[in-house]
Amino acid sequence: MPDTKLLLRSLAGETLPTPPVWMMRQAGRYLPEYRETRAEAGDFLSLCYNSDLAAEVTLQPIRRYGFDAAILFADILLLPDALGADVWFVTGEGPRLSTITGPEGLAPLKGKDDIHDHMAPVYETLRILSRELPAETALIGFAGAPWTVATYMIAGRGTPDQAPAHKLKAEDRATFDALLHLLTEATIEYLSKQVEAGAEVVKLFDSWAGSLKGDDFAKYALAPAKRIISELKSRHPGLPVIAFPREAGNAYLGFANAVGADGLAIDTSVDAAWAAKHLQPDSCIQGNLDPRHMVTGGQALVDDTRAIVEAFRGGPHIFNLGHGITPNADPENVHRMLEAIRG
Ligand code: CP3
Repeated sequence: MPDTKLLLRSLAGETLPTPPVWMMRQAGRYLPEYRETRAEAGDFLSLCYNSDLAAEVTLQPIRRYGFDAAILFADILLLPDALGADVWFVTGEGPRLSTITGPEGLAPLKGKDDIHDHMAPVYETLRILSRELPAETALIGFAGAPWTVATYMIAGRGTPDQAPAHKLKAEDRATFDALLHLLTEATIEYLSKQVEAGAEVVKLFDSWAGSLKGDDFAKYALAPAKRIISELKSRHPGLPVIAFPREAGNAYLGFANAVGADGLAIDTSVDAAWAAKHLQPDSCIQGNLDPRHMVTGGQALVDDTRAIVEAFRGGPHIFNLGHGITPNADPENVHRMLEAIRG
């Protein structure tokens, strides 16, 4: 049966009159109903591991806005948690983890196949969503790309320049490579189970890909994505995959083909006309409205939204933001964006 879901049609290469749309971080703190469920769950990780509440917050933006896709409510840092690292979130600050500064940091970590008991609630969230989502809404599963997840595991927190990860890479390449290898293989197992539980598309978030240059980009952003995608596609033929090597700049060129991705998500720094000319011939493009418009609104939001739709009209496109919607966004601006896309 041909796909009826618009998002799947775009990822299969179809050029649609109106692009499907969803937003990164669409389930989040800008929504009052999210804040309410989050308070009920307690802390952020408890929300991620409570299948009923995680399914509920995934559905909230679908009910409110009728997006074309729902993204599993979880986090890229659940994988380090499942592998046995310590992970916690400090409200108002962000994630904290145990650190990895040498081989002794790897020793306590579990093997790639030993994550599924820990992840059982996440798979259950996907099963609930497959039953409860409207028939036209696609379900996206996701994971962090190995480099991005490693930057948090090495530093023990988010860092502006990923310096601790670059330092380990320079000073103890064996430990760094072993960590990247473990994350690559565990990500395959994790995403594969997400697909078995109902994810129809998977997205790989390489939020810090932009800090890898030259050979490092090829080795630690491109090669792991290629390995993950090719193994997933051999296990699940036809599975659509979206890659997001954020802030890759010129390295966006050819990336989708090189890794075998069906969709390429682009950040706000990529010019839409350039991307339409140089990237869209290879893959469906997802992006790239500046999330700041969701805070400021006004005519600029409408104009920039229309300009992006116009720029990508000639090929497969999924409308999205260039990065996640922020907690200070006005939920009404999302309606204005949808109105500008769908008319
Ligand atoms: O709606 C969705 O997009 C699905 C759920 C989702 C979350 N995080 C929920 C979340 C997804 C896909 C992510 C991905 C993620 N998580 C990334 C990659 C994308 C990106 O933003 O670059 C990264 C780097 C993380 C790690 C992470 N999680 C950080 C650095 C933080 C703290 C910063 C912040 O925004 O608070 C989180 C927390 C987080 N993940 C929240 C949500 C809704 C906020 C937590 C809360 O409710 O307090």
